[in-house]
Amino acid sequence: MNSNKLNGEVYYPSEEVISKAHIKDWEQLNEFATNNYEKFWEDLANELHWFKKWDKVLDDSNKPFFKWFTGGITNISYNCLDVHTKTHRRNKLALIWEGENGDTKTYSYFALHRETCKFANILKSLGVQKGDRVTIYMGRVPEIVIAMLACARIGAIHSVVYGGFSVESLAERIEDSNSKVLIVADGAYQRGKIVPLKQIADEALQRCGTVEHVLVVKRTGQEVNMEFGRDMWLHELMNLPVASRECSLEKMDAEDPLFILYTSGTTGKPKAILHTHGGYMVGTYASLKYVFDIHEEDRYWCAADPGWITGHSYIVYGPLLNGATSFLYEGAPNFPYPNRWWAMIEKYGINILYTAPTAIRGLMRFGEAWVNRHDLSSLRLLGSVGEPINPEAWKWYYKVVGKEKCPIMDTWWQTETGMFMITPMPCVPLKPGSGTRPFPGIQMDVVDENGNSVKANEEGFLVIKTPWPSMIRTVWNDDERYINQYWSKYPGMYLTGDSVRRDEDGYYWIIGRVDDVIKVSGYRLGTAEIESALVSHPAVAEAAAIGLPHEIKGNAIYTFVILKNGFTKSTQLIEELRQHVSHEVGPIAKPESIEIVDSLPKTRSGKIMRRVLKARALGQDPGNISTLEE
Ligand code: WTA
Repeated sequence: MNSNKLNGEVYYPSEEVISKAHIKDWEQLNEFATNNYEKFWEDLANELHWFKKWDKVLDDSNKPFFKWFTGGITNISYNCLDVHTKTHRRNKLALIWEGENGDTKTYSYFALHRETCKFANILKSLGVQKGDRVTIYMGRVPEIVIAMLACARIGAIHSVVYGGFSVESLAERIEDSNSKVLIVADGAYQRGKIVPLKQIADEALQRCGTVEHVLVVKRTGQEVNMEFGRDMWLHELMNLPVASRECSLEKMDAEDPLFILYTSGTTGKPKAILHTHGGYMVGTYASLKYVFDIHEEDRYWCAADPGWITGHSYIVYGPLLNGATSFLYEGAPNFPYPNRWWAMIEKYGINILYTAPTAIRGLMRFGEAWVNRHDLSSLRLLGSVGEPINPEAWKWYYKVVGKEKCPIMDTWWQTETGMFMITPMPCVPLKPGSGTRPFPGIQMDVVDENGNSVKANEEGFLVIKTPWPSMIRTVWNDDERYINQYWSKYPGMYLTGDSVRRDEDGYYWIIGRVDDVIKVSGYRLGTAEIESALVSHPAVAEAAAIGLPHEIKGNAIYTFVILKNGFTKSTQLIEELRQHVSHEVGPIAKPESIEIVDSLPKTRSGKIMRRVLKARALGQDPGNISTLEE
């Protein structure tokens, strides 16, 4: 493709950007990767440490259960830490942290390795072994990173539950993963208030019976309940001889599980996506290196939360595998004032900022003056993730934050993909609102209901046709769900659940989810979780949730509720129901509105037709309603 002939509004990278970038010629790399797919990934895997190299790069003998680097022995935590402590990076900062209240902590690679070993020894002393699940429920503090790395070091499978989730979400995830150990913080600072994480966990633990030990990280310092024989303060254990700095590591098979991460799907309960030590490591390492063009001197900031896949891949594993300096901030972007982010970029000299459109739209609302007060000249690259970025927000980000010199990496990917799948690199010409093209070598397509490719600019379903190293291996304990959800609609193609348009230049334009997933402020929620929370309230007989467009959040949750006999509609009850959802699922799931209705549109087999509710709310034609019951 001749990049001089792209259609539409195009932003070409400057000579300066290209001259600095690892990859200067995307077309060439893509061609190599396409024609030498396994070799492409093998070369990247060779940049990492393996105790024993693989026998086979890709094993596709049992589709769709693909395996990568089979026979290889490694450990991702070793590659994140030990490897660097043996080089010039030993005293380089691995992690810079700022608390919402202004506290700061920094860890060199040496220090992060030490803390991880100590933590891992504590886990071992609690009987945690290879393959055991450990649930982690914390805010954005360094200990969450250390806890994850400690689990990985000893081969335990971490299951991080986002600190914005609440009682039922946490209980369900602990129970499903059968975790014996929970690592929790006393609380988290958020917008000047304390989220009482330990208290929420205590309530969750009353609903599930698997946890034997609770490690409590002191962050906010408020009084918390400590159950004798079950709960222990981490800082006390870290001072005991058991928390030795020497911790032997578990040598992991490339395909051994690294973590599970729950995410919302089409129906029913959230499902645990399984990722592995080998392939996930190679995918996150390579994608971050190429897309955010990590250089030795960079200070990189991914402003997501470690509790979501973006944080797993691009706060914790990707940056550390690359030996980068990663910045982590605890609190809200506008606390105490809307210049907080810009002040920190200036203070720490951040070079790369990776965030979500919702944050950009939120900060944009406060005006340029807050940004312009700060020297942001250290910035070199910007990034976006989680939902489509509207061109208006893209341009504001590009002009006001990036001063028209920082390319924006709009990265499309999923919990299931583990790594960026549609993404530019700094040398790629950009179109505002498009993530450009698939990562080198990866074949994607836009298909119709029957799985046939659609024409350029027509809307269709986004599918992936090539396996990739950091792909989901299965749904934890549910191979059938893995097959049904992702591989059954079109044999041989991975179904993403997104609808998309591909233009005449091959650029992809994501439209949104086509299933019952709602992306609220970039957070992935399922209608089922919200509905089941509503129905768990004594006043509610039936409930339906849909997502509708929202200026800042991208989508907001609208719900429809049928009350049980004996309950009457009141503003007080509606507020109580909203609070109930917040208490059960989390504040991010709190409905924007709750409408009390007498009936819900259903199919004759009793399935709620959310599509009809949505069309009605938007004043649109609901389309085919022949299956609607009388
Ligand atoms: C959406 C987040 C448009 C998409 C990494 C996908 C995006 C879902 C983008 C996965 C983007 C993610 N542009 N849409 N750059 N990135 N999405 O699992 O609908 O939380 O299917 O992973 O987010 O959400 P998840």
